[in-house]
Amino acid sequence: MKVTVVGAGNVGATVANVLATKGFASEVVLIDIKEGLSEGKAMDIMQTSHMLNFDTTVIGVTNDYAATAGSQVVVVTSGIPRKPGMTREQLIGTNAKIVKSVVDQILANSPDAILIIVSNPMDAMTYLTLKDTKLPRNRIIGQGGMLDSSRFRYYLAQALQEAGYPATPTDIDGMVIGGHADKTMVPLVSLATYRGIPVTQLLSEEAIQKAVEATKVGGATCTKLLGTSAWYAPGAAAAALVEAIALDAKKLIPCCVYLDGEYGEKDLCIGVPVILGKDGVEKIVEVQFSDAEKAKFQESIAAAREVNSKLAEALA
Ligand code: 2OP
Repeated sequence: MKVTVVGAGNVGATVANVLATKGFASEVVLIDIKEGLSEGKAMDIMQTSHMLNFDTTVIGVTNDYAATAGSQVVVVTSGIPRKPGMTREQLIGTNAKIVKSVVDQILANSPDAILIIVSNPMDAMTYLTLKDTKLPRNRIIGQGGMLDSSRFRYYLAQALQEAGYPATPTDIDGMVIGGHADKTMVPLVSLATYRGIPVTQLLSEEAIQKAVEATKVGGATCTKLLGTSAWYAPGAAAAALVEAIALDAKKLIPCCVYLDGEYGEKDLCIGVPVILGKDGVEKIVEVQFSDAEKAKFQESIAAAREVNSKLAEALA
């Protein structure tokens, strides 16, 4: 399998690195507009191959889309990251044009590729890609829910530790749906468990709310500490989506997808649980959650529609 990662910044390079170490792809092409950046990062990754024991070939190219031809999966990380104090939505003016141009060049060379959109504001960039390309919706997937769910598991594990349980993130099952946005993502407390035990049985309402709020600003917290946005978890999350597709794993993962009647909504891209396999989004799974969570999901949908309404202006 050939995978392309567009953008050799922190997130893109991490995606390439995780893909290489996982070893399921024969070739990973890392492409960037900045002369030498992809080449240098690909070389650096390849020089770990003996130590980390992988046979994936990582190639770096500058703006040479011909080198990406025949990719089965393409991860788009292009655009600028946010700085401390910025929201993801504030990036729309710069990133919409970049994502549109990148996607057009990718599809000219890999017309059958499944696209994973990581660039922010991710829900709007996924919607833009769907509208611009008119591809079937199973082939356009936004990465947000995997990352946000991973952060939710991390903060729930911390809360459980504080409550005296020896939990680690891998002990937790928890899902975040809705937009990949600080205020409006929806961590589904009602479905979160610690080795099958609902967390609501073990944690106080206050501890749960603390974990929920920390999850929602998980990206902003890293951005404040790092001076730029996070990359290890976002990169690993995108690589996990590639893996589910490449291995036809049929994993249930919350992803940003186009809704056409599911959850009673149409004509927007938002995070919901889906089954990911070789065809990309193979099924949208409709689950029940609490009334309070349903209300929050509605707020998240309204916020995503509001950002989408700014796309035309951003592209003008
Ligand atoms: C994050 O939440 C970059 O949006 C990404 O860290």
